[in-house]
Amino acid sequence: MTQAALDSAPAAAPARAAPGQRAQRVLAAEAVSVSFGGVRALDGASVSLAPGRITGLVGPNGAGKSTLFNVLAGTQRPRRGTVRLAGADITRMPVHRRAHAGIARTFQLARELDSLSVLENLLLAAPRQPGERLGNLLLRRGAVRRAEAAAIERALALLARVRLTRLADQPAGALSGGQKKLLELCRALMLEPDIVLLDEPAAGVNPALIEELCQFILALRGEGKTFAIVEHNMDMVAALCDHVYVLAEGRVLTQGSFDAVTADTRVRQAYLGEP
Ligand SMILES: Nc1ncnc2c1ncn2[C@@H]1O[C@H](COP(=O)(O)OP(=O)(O)OP(=O)(O)O)[C@@H](O)[C@H]1O
Ligand SMILES: [Mg+2]
Repeated sequence: MTQAALDSAPAAAPARAAPGQRAQRVLAAEAVSVSFGGVRALDGASVSLAPGRITGLVGPNGAGKSTLFNVLAGTQRPRRGTVRLAGADITRMPVHRRAHAGIARTFQLARELDSLSVLENLLLAAPRQPGERLGNLLLRRGAVRRAEAAAIERALALLARVRLTRLADQPAGALSGGQKKLLELCRALMLEPDIVLLDEPAAGVNPALIEELCQFILALRGEGKTFAIVEHNMDMVAALCDHVYVLAEGRVLTQGSFDAVTADTRVRQAYLGEP
């Protein structure tokens, strides 16, 4: 970064650090509770995502995994508890600011716009463009064109990494379920997040594409990104996760390595309903 850029950059609060300054930030939920009517979706759950690691969240249907993702990403306010990023309380930080602070997520059901092309879906997720304001459009055509070109370049680079380049101009609705999952991940990566929350990335994906997805996630971890993954596919959890939390009925039942938690009889009871 040049001195001029440093001078004009806003002071780096922990939650708003620039991409290069974001390494080693912990995202954590502390004793969060969420209720929907009488249903306690989360009941004092705490998780901490180690920087540069892949953390798995597993548990039976309805355990509260997606709700916990929503709390971390900012789409669900907890009734109790705190969300922290690098120690700073971000419980009330709205979702768009969390996205710009480096937290991205995918959804359990892919949210592509079927009638737009694959490339257009990625460009929709690009950082706010200077051309979105009419004044800027008239005064700063050069800047607008450069920002657009950068976003296109970034989108094409991501598509190349997941080998979807040849489908860039196809409508997203024409993609297979697995290809949509890859596109969903690329969309989450458009804002250059350092923390990525993936909700069931392997659901409905064929084994060959799951392998490709795993390789991509491992490569991104190698580049320093932090992941949390909700997944029912235990082979994938075993292959990817450095640390695993098991949720049941809105609480953390246990945590540890994949081998340790799967050896725990309480975990088998929660999954299989064994007495
Ligand atoms: N928007 C909502 N309104 C009402 N109840 C909800 C809502 N979202 C979740 N719940 C309930 O909260 C509980 C936890 O749901 P959640 O989606 O977090 O579970 P999950 O662990 O992600 O399950 P799955 O593995 O099936 O995706 C469930 O009982 C669910 O029915
Ligand atoms: Mg879920």
